[in-house]
Amino acid sequence: MSKAFTRLAPAATPVPPRWRKDVERILITDAMLARRIRQVAGEIQRDFQGREMVVVSLLNGTVMFLGDLIRNLSIPLRLDFMGVSSYGAGTESGELVYTKELRLDVRGRDVLLVDDILDTGKTLTRVRAKLQALKPRRIKICVLLDKPSRRVEPVKTDYVGFAIPDVFVVGYGLDYAERYRNLPFVGVLKPEMYRR
Ligand code: IMP
Ligand code: MG
Repeated sequence: MSKAFTRLAPAATPVPPRWRKDVERILITDAMLARRIRQVAGEIQRDFQGREMVVVSLLNGTVMFLGDLIRNLSIPLRLDFMGVSSYGAGTESGELVYTKELRLDVRGRDVLLVDDILDTGKTLTRVRAKLQALKPRRIKICVLLDKPSRRVEPVKTDYVGFAIPDVFVVGYGLDYAERYRNLPFVGVLKPEMYRR
């Protein structure tokens, strides 16, 4: 089990002027992301030693995290994506729509399932069950962010980048209504941006 108690950014870290209208504060800087992701990759590398894994990454939120994670993995792997999106505006419905199905065969394989953020746990619970039905040897779960206080369905994670408080975050792949994925840091979205 990885330690997720890495400290969050000091309150003094300024939001770049371009994003000040939208972002309240920076929670995790690009330097903190880079450092922690190298550590997580090191843990994965030790655990998977010698065995080729299939990395299954959930679209679209993992774009940046996945790129930085796998460039730090110097072990054999194959990569595939599953497109998952929650139906409707809120995440409350729990209804998942698959926008891209897995193509690689994972039967008997070691799978590393990667997602951007673990919130209520509904997404990973469903995706894990769907993958499990394909009879992999084992499934390890890796998330960049974890909001433990929001959990509705229990999920056992193997690698966690950062545990964060119950705030809505954007950037580094994470979106609000498909925006902000390009920010190089993880920031707290101003509530007025999503209350409208
Ligand atoms: P869960 O099914 O409630 O665990 O939610 C997981 C998904 O909800 C993530 O993959 C995100 O797409 C989305 N999500 C949850 N919290 C946040 C957030 O703070 N910012 C952006 N997306 C979030
Ligand atoms: Mg997502």
